[in-house]
Amino acid sequence: MASLELKGLKKRYGDLQVIHGLDLSVEKGEFIVFVGPSGCGKSTALRMICGLETLSEGDILIGGNSVRNVPPARRGVAMVFQSYALYPHMTVAENMGFSLRMEGVPKAERAGKVAEAARILQLEELLARKPKELSGGQRQRVAIGRAIVRKPEVFLFDEPLSNLDAELRVQMRFELARLHRAIGATMIYVTHDQVEAMTLADRIVVLRSGRVEQIGTPMDLYHRPRNMFVAGFIGSPKMNFFAARVVSVSDAGVEITFDGLRGGPLVLQRRSAALAAGDQVTLGVRPEHLVVNGNGAAGVEAEVEFWEELGSSSYAYAPGFGAGAVVASAHRVPDATVTTGLMPMTFAAERCMLFDAGGLTVF
Ligand SMILES: Nc1ncnc2c1ncn2[C@@H]1O[C@H](COP(=O)(O)OP(=O)(O)O)[C@@H](O)[C@H]1O
Ligand SMILES: [Mg+2]
Repeated sequence: MASLELKGLKKRYGDLQVIHGLDLSVEKGEFIVFVGPSGCGKSTALRMICGLETLSEGDILIGGNSVRNVPPARRGVAMVFQSYALYPHMTVAENMGFSLRMEGVPKAERAGKVAEAARILQLEELLARKPKELSGGQRQRVAIGRAIVRKPEVFLFDEPLSNLDAELRVQMRFELARLHRAIGATMIYVTHDQVEAMTLADRIVVLRSGRVEQIGTPMDLYHRPRNMFVAGFIGSPKMNFFAARVVSVSDAGVEITFDGLRGGPLVLQRRSAALAAGDQVTLGVRPEHLVVNGNGAAGVEAEVEFWEELGSSSYAYAPGFGAGAVVASAHRVPDATVTTGLMPMTFAAERCMLFDAGGLTVF
């Protein structure tokens, strides 16, 4: 394993710039996850690291050395793709050993490396099978095995689980975490599934339109998002946003109000030197902090159209409130009749966030 450094990485396709200067230092053995909306440049960044795309500007250092002019096969990088096309006519063992055979690694050494990868991935019983005799999760493990046998310095994964069904994804997520612990490799993992991002990452890189919005631990991003984009992107169901106005700022905190607020103004007991009465702001509140029939002082009343019952939690969806749907949580009594219609919801004021007119986090 090795450290990885991206320095001012840029990518242009003709006039279209898709990566606008990406800087990132990845420590040896760190598990980094890239998340961001479709088209934000996640795959492009990975392809540049492994050498499948040229760099328009910037540099990539692996173990401290520039790999800008090093061909893909010699970078010490292995990539696992979403479509893990295995060779159908080869066995699991042959698929896993294929790249080593191409490199001219002697047969006995090859067999040893394949056996070790098979042990780590629990594929030992399946080595003689053909891909069509495997489940989706087993095939994905073979694809990972193909990468492991090469003992790469850096592993790259591009949405490797998105073709699997929900149950398998959960299982493979666990296996990837275990694999990372077992081999301690430096990993960059691309996903648009934020549960994968939150559970696997040491640090998450949130990308938007080829720019970094924030880099931090999962809990940093959840509790201390830099701006509204990150706040809205991390967390499921999404954070609610209300366009609001500052009523007063004092030592007691910031008072805000907005159309439809009941029992207000809402008092946020935190200091902000940056705000003044009359400022336009956005109130952000996660569904877990907007509670149906809760006991907060201030809140909203919204038309609940449907409920999402997850057993351990219940969410009420009220589409068409202000800018978008409001999602609130409720402590529901099991088997109680689900009711829809106009319902009061109150804010847990101490957990609310505030964003300034430019979308940056105030607190
Ligand atoms: N070979 C290419 N030529 C032109 N545009 C490309 C090429 N590859 C990717 N793009 C564009 O670059 C942007 C980022 O793509 P991609 O990295 O695949 O996004 P993501 O993986 O985050 O969904 C997209 O707008 C995509 O259309
Ligand atoms: Mg992609």
